[in-house]
Amino acid sequence: MLHLRMAGLLMLMFLLYALDPLSLDPPVVIKEYDEGVEVNCTTTLEKYQSMNWRDKTGDRDLEEEFNFVTWSVPPSKWDVTATCKIKLNSSVECSKDLEIIVYKKPNMVAIQPINDVKEGTQHQIQCDIIDVAPVQNVTLIWYKNEQNIKMETFNNKTKTPVNVSSFLSVNVNRKENGARFRCEAHMAFGPRQLGHVTSDTYTLSVHYAPELNVNTDYIVMEEGKDLTLNCEAEGNPPPNFHWTRNGKPITGKTNKFKITKAKITTTYSCNASNYLGSVTKEFGIPCPLMLTPNELVVRFGDRASINCSTSAADAAGMGWEVPIGGTGFEKPPSVIWTIEKLEEWTIDPKCYITLKNDHQCSVMPKVTIYKTPDSVSVSALTDGPMVEDKQHVLQCEIVSVAGVPNLTVTWYRNGNKVQTETFNSTCVSPCTVNSTLRVTAQRDYNGINFHCEAELNLGPEGPKPNPTSTSEPYIAIVHYKPLIKACPSQYAGLEDDFSIDKVPCQADGNPPPTLNWYYQGKLINASAPLTRTESGRYTAEFVNDLDKSSTFVDVTVEYGPSFICNERYEVVANGKLQQECKADGVPAPNILWIKNGKEMAMPQRWTKNDTGHYKLKATNKHGSATYMLYLDVLCDYLFSSNMTLLSTVHITPGDNVTLDCHAEGNPEPVIYWNYSSAENVWPTTRGHHSSIIVRGATSTNAGVYMCVATNKVGSVTRRKSTASFMLWWVILLICILLLIILLMIIYHKFCKNSGQYSFINNKESTIPLSNVPPASKP
Ligand SMILES: *[C@@H]1O[C@H](CO)[C@@H](O)[C@H](O)[C@H]1NC(C)=O
Ligand SMILES: *[C@@H]1O[C@H](CO)[C@@H](O)[C@H](O)[C@H]1NC(C)=O
Ligand SMILES: *[C@@H]1O[C@H](CO)[C@@H](O)[C@H](O)[C@H]1NC(C)=O
Ligand SMILES: *[C@@H]1O[C@H](CO)[C@@H](O)[C@H](O)[C@H]1NC(C)=O
Ligand SMILES: *[C@@H]1O[C@H](CO)[C@@H](O)[C@H](O)[C@H]1NC(C)=O
Ligand SMILES: *[C@@H]1O[C@H](CO)[C@@H](O)[C@H](O)[C@H]1NC(C)=O
Ligand SMILES: *[C@@H]1O[C@H](CO)[C@@H](O)[C@H](O)[C@H]1NC(C)=O
Ligand SMILES: *[C@@H]1O[C@H](CO)[C@@H](O)[C@H](O)[C@H]1NC(C)=O
Ligand SMILES: *[C@@H]1O[C@H](CO)[C@@H](O)[C@H](O)[C@H]1NC(C)=O
Ligand SMILES: *[C@@H]1O[C@H](CO)[C@@H](O)[C@H](O)[C@H]1NC(C)=O
Ligand SMILES: *[C@@H]1O[C@H](CO)[C@@H](O)[C@H](O)[C@H]1NC(C)=O
Ligand SMILES: *[C@@H]1O[C@H](CO)[C@@H](O)[C@H](O)[C@H]1NC(C)=O
Repeated sequence: MLHLRMAGLLMLMFLLYALDPLSLDPPVVIKEYDEGVEVNCTTTLEKYQSMNWRDKTGDRDLEEEFNFVTWSVPPSKWDVTATCKIKLNSSVECSKDLEIIVYKKPNMVAIQPINDVKEGTQHQIQCDIIDVAPVQNVTLIWYKNEQNIKMETFNNKTKTPVNVSSFLSVNVNRKENGARFRCEAHMAFGPRQLGHVTSDTYTLSVHYAPELNVNTDYIVMEEGKDLTLNCEAEGNPPPNFHWTRNGKPITGKTNKFKITKAKITTTYSCNASNYLGSVTKEFGIPCPLMLTPNELVVRFGDRASINCSTSAADAAGMGWEVPIGGTGFEKPPSVIWTIEKLEEWTIDPKCYITLKNDHQCSVMPKVTIYKTPDSVSVSALTDGPMVEDKQHVLQCEIVSVAGVPNLTVTWYRNGNKVQTETFNSTCVSPCTVNSTLRVTAQRDYNGINFHCEAELNLGPEGPKPNPTSTSEPYIAIVHYKPLIKACPSQYAGLEDDFSIDKVPCQADGNPPPTLNWYYQGKLINASAPLTRTESGRYTAEFVNDLDKSSTFVDVTVEYGPSFICNERYEVVANGKLQQECKADGVPAPNILWIKNGKEMAMPQRWTKNDTGHYKLKATNKHGSATYMLYLDVLCDYLFSSNMTLLSTVHITPGDNVTLDCHAEGNPEPVIYWNYSSAENVWPTTRGHHSSIIVRGATSTNAGVYMCVATNKVGSVTRRKSTASFMLWWVILLICILLLIILLMIIYHKFCKNSGQYSFINNKESTIPLSNVPPASKP
């Protein structure tokens, strides 16, 4: 039941959503602040419980009329929201939100510069939009000379009015002078355009120094004519004009100046200036003379000649005014100045012309008199040889050269150009000039050459190729500190043959460095042969006047093998040699064991069979040594034998008793007896055999006799006791008595017989005790 109701409810809600029972009119409110707008919320349903508007500010429930409800948007609010709600019955209701945009057009859009307008800088212009809402729907557009150059939008989501600014950077250039800038704020809500607000126009005023409109700086006038000189210069701020005649100020404050009857000899100039700079323009009538050649380049002592001619129709006469070879007043149209041998250092020839109206003018050709240097040579200004990393000054002396302003001195290092120098000496007659080259010496400059070249470049009129003088090369000697070139870090040599000076250690240096060897901090004689004890770290030190440089060499003194051994070695079978027979030698020698002429491998375990004489041979690259030794492999056994096992030996008083003990072992055991000593007891030992002899035994010799045999392997002990013969004697007597009694009874009973009795010396057989297991070591 419940499930069914739920399903029904869901279905209904879906239907309501699909059918959309509410419609808003207008569906979206876009209104200006302060503007009043009404919105109708209408339903298509016929039956419902209630319908109303709800806004955030309060619970102003506006009840329905019939199938719609009207709501007035509050006019003076920025953030307004409202929802229309319909309640079908107590459990089902639906609603619709109204979208409201409240806008405000900007109060003003203002444009202003924020820094100075200086040519070559960046000029910043600011545009402010004052009091606009919502700013996210504003687009700011920049215009330059009515062209859209930049657009900017703002993504601040604020709904209330704000102020926003935009900035424009302009590269200031005098061409931009007069450029007009403007900005506009456009508002749009989707497709709905709300028009725009525009700023004032800002005109860029770029200040710049005056510039001449015409490129020529000398205006040609004609003799005797009236004319107006025009000084066409522009600048911002507009320039002030100053005029001069023949260098003297004249009145005239504008760009125009009127002259009457121009004269050859008069020149005018106009100076246009503002606070940023000035330009000058000159006006004049050129002298109607032509020189061929126009410029003279001549070697001292050579022939010189210039033709001066005129095209002026009203010329009265002309001539050369020269200290040597001048002419008189001659007839136009030309006059030649010639000198066969020019031997003056300064000569200023002047060609003049006099017109029929007595006006006179003249021209002076440019004359360059040159002389190649007597000598060019390189020398060192710094004393002594060049020193690595130090500055050294070389001088190129150019002796007696004329034409110094056209002189170029070029320095070469190993044929490569390194420096050029020109001179601005005003010296006209031959003079001597020096050029210096500062060289920071490097080690690889040693032995290379420097030279300099003096070249006179006299321009297009001068001789070709340019006269050039080259110095002799200067060979550089550079002193430099030792630099270790090749030195092994390790070196090995043979004792008594090798000395440290045989280590191939070299260093480069100038002066050539001397090599000192140090061992354990002490200077050593490098040619002394080294002994085996002198292996170790040696220091090679190279020294010259400038510095020293050192390095290490680990030296190994090698020598042939020699033995440090005993003649005889013992080793317990299955054991290892406790002391090894060693062979000394460097490199460590290889040792061979030779037995019976055969090389053998060192056994893992020595056996008795390995006992014998060995020849050892030690070999390394410096030779070999042999050594003979005897190796005794000790058996790890000890036993005793031939020892009477009877625990007790019965001794008849007065007898001589011998107790024997035999022991064998490897190594040969030591045999001795432990017994209570007495005068008549002598132990004797011979080889493996030991005996103890009791002569004339008495009861005091009764006791325990212990035979002990020991060797490295261990020790064995055998015991033997001697008992008092008295007791045995008594027992024997009793037995004999009993026997006698018995015999006597028998005899008396059966027959009468004679008898004898004997003493039985207990002679035991000896039992060998061979193969006694080795006694455990103590
Ligand atoms: C709302 O509906 C009423 C009745 O139909 C109508 O008079 C009024 O003009 C409507 N208002 C708007 C804003 O549509
Ligand atoms: C509300 O109306 C719907 C559709 O008419 C209906 O299915 C539902 O039972 C009603 N609910 C109540 C509580 O009346
Ligand atoms: C939007 O502008 C307002 C007012 O100028 C300011 O307080 C706010 O921080 C701005 N928001 C953003 C995201 O820039
Ligand atoms: C915007 O600028 C105007 C004028 O400068 C000022 O009066 C106003 O307070 C500013 N408004 C805001 C939100 O900063
Ligand atoms: C202007 O407003 C409308 C309605 O809020 C919005 O959809 C649109 O994206 C906005 N336009 C811009 C350029 O931000
Ligand atoms: C031009 O006049 C200005 C101002 O009098 C002066 O500073 C400037 O040196 C003059 N320029 C020349 C080329 O004479
Ligand atoms: C060249 O001459 C000028 C003026 O005599 C002087 O100021 C300048 O330092 C000179 N230049 C050299 C490289 O000697
Ligand atoms: C050039 O060098 C020479 C030799 O060092 C010297 O005698 C002479 O005075 C120098 N001349 C000049 C102009 O420096
Ligand atoms: C050579 O010297 C003269 C006189 O100083 C000068 O006018 C000319 O320009 C110079 N030529 C060169 C190539 O430097
Ligand atoms: C010892 O030498 C003998 C005779 O050469 C040989 O029979 C025996 O096997 C050897 N023993 C060992 C342990 O090498
Ligand atoms: C016992 O020792 C004797 C010499 O003392 C010797 O001749 C004999 O061979 C030994 N007997 C045994 C079994 O070793
Ligand atoms: C014991 O030995 C000594 C010396 O060799 C000898 O004189 C003596 O007769 C011996 N005694 C016996 C009972 O054999």
